Amino acid sequence: MAVVSDITQVNLNGLILKNPILTASGTYGYADEYNEFIDVSNLGAVVTKAITLNPRAGNKHIRIIETKAGMINSIGLENVGIDKFLESKIPVLKNNNIEYIMNIAGATLDEYVKLAKICNDNRIKAIELNVSCPNVKSGCLEFGVDESALFELVSKVREKYRGFLIVKLTPNVTSIEKTASAAERAGADAISAINTLKGASIKIEFINGKFKKTVVQGGYSGAGIKPAAISAVMRIKSAVNIPVIGIGGIETLEDVLEFFAAGAEAVQIGTANFTHPEIAQQLVVELSDYIKKSGFKNLDELKKELRA
Ligand SMILES: Cc1cc2nc3c(=O)[nH]c(=O)nc-3n(C[C@H](O)[C@H](O)[C@H](O)COP(=O)(O)O)c2cc1C
Repeated sequence: MAVVSDITQVNLNGLILKNPILTASGTYGYADEYNEFIDVSNLGAVVTKAITLNPRAGNKHIRIIETKAGMINSIGLENVGIDKFLESKIPVLKNNNIEYIMNIAGATLDEYVKLAKICNDNRIKAIELNVSCPNVKSGCLEFGVDESALFELVSKVREKYRGFLIVKLTPNVTSIEKTASAAERAGADAISAINTLKGASIKIEFINGKFKKTVVQGGYSGAGIKPAAISAVMRIKSAVNIPVIGIGGIETLEDVLEFFAAGAEAVQIGTANFTHPEIAQQLVVELSDYIKKSGFKNLDELKKELRA
């Protein structure tokens, strides 16, 4: 892997990352799985899968459906819980110099506040609040779709957590400008968007003269959602002054540049990791080469020209 120079460095409102290419929550595990065969320390950061107060087994039955331009997932926030994460996952990240952002999710306001305090006590540098998962029965989605509930949640988390606070927004709302603005007013340091769109698939089979239907509902992600994500980033950007981290369907350097042009300061790669596990590392190198080849001094200059 090529050495990446500081021309790709990005300053997200005080959080300085070596480059703007991150991996998206839930699509890169806790990074330890990848680290055995890929140099994960090359990435701007890894966003961990959502961590909850207690371990969760996740949803039963069908969890993943492939679609023509992405996938529908109904994982249901399976994770080891915060105690195990702190005890056994963080040491691996630290020992391998992997920059990470911890994605947290709760079913109640109280759970989010407890998680925020634990993160603060353990000096977790940056957290991403998942207020937008579409495939759990209660909890985080309700906060993400209601402006005042979101304002209250982010304010309460802010009171307990002094590190870098990212709020991850759902596209499943009427006005993402309003939820973004509520997060900013409540003290978020950055917004990330988008989480998955609501999706469903119905597999139809005709067996012995009868239809058998298998319905899977969950979060739709991948290449097919990129236009929705670009639109969301542009609308969020028009509503807030804090940095936006763009997520949704990114597979190529052209996609990354499109998100920068829309106003994103950094990006997260999600579903593409499943088909191309080294895609994020490759994009780091491609971005660095592109900046040099095009004669820009650094990433900031590239973004400035893209937005001119
Ligand atoms: C299998 C899977 C699991 C996910 N788990 C989480 C999660 O735990 N927390 C979260 O905030 N987002 C989660 N997401 C959403 C992604 O982080 C990302 O926002 C979304 O997939 C859009 O990006 P993409 O089109 O590049 O995949 C998950 C997505 C997938 C496909």
